[in-house]
Amino acid sequence: MLTILNHPLLDVKMTSLRDKTTPPHSFRRILHEVAGLMSASVFSHLTTQEMSVETPLEHTKGFCLPEPLPCLVSILRAGNGLTDAFSAILPEIPIGHLGLQRNPDTHHAEAYYEKLPNRIADRQIILVDPMLATGGSAIMAADRLKAHGARDILFACLVASPEGVRAVQDAHDDIPIITAAVDRELDENFYILPGLGDAGDRIYNTV
Ligand code: PRP
Ligand code: URA
Repeated sequence: MLTILNHPLLDVKMTSLRDKTTPPHSFRRILHEVAGLMSASVFSHLTTQEMSVETPLEHTKGFCLPEPLPCLVSILRAGNGLTDAFSAILPEIPIGHLGLQRNPDTHHAEAYYEKLPNRIADRQIILVDPMLATGGSAIMAADRLKAHGARDILFACLVASPEGVRAVQDAHDDIPIITAAVDRELDENFYILPGLGDAGDRIYNTV
């Protein structure tokens, strides 16, 4: 249930995101472009429903999204860099937010905010965060969604560590992971190597 995306433009744009000289305004734009490239694969997991449609000439079979619509859930704050681009493709779907932050000393995720769409238990959920490092944030986010009854969750990220992938798979083996890259390892501060640094700081220029 791990998909590592393979696309020449992802290789090129991920290299720009990794480059420490890429300034925040370019980082945000390229992140948006990368998410656009990932979106076909991420949205390919969505369930559709048959319907009929009237063309100018006749009735034919078509498809629509079921009600309640799927939703995006962003792990704040870096997740917003991905939801911006995914919601540009599917603007009608609601976006939930889970505020989680790694404690700088323990490196464990701590929750500070939660606002989710109604009927979350009945929606397909695309949970997004650019970074999957220890997996603590993604696991806590999935725990919270499941505590509300969610049963159909996909996790999309840009860069994952092997440790983070294992941790999420151990905790939530029902959640597929889609990522643009799986990097080598975590460092002693639980940052991904080679990685791209602190995604939130690079998006929001708060280094
Ligand atoms: C980063 C990142 C993930 C988390 C990944 O967020 O966006 O949410 O770390 O690390 P983990 O897999 O070890 O939990 P951070 O906590 O720095 O918060 P921010 O998005 O507000 O910068
Ligand atoms: N969070 C980030 O933003 N980057 C990492 O490498 C690890 C956690």
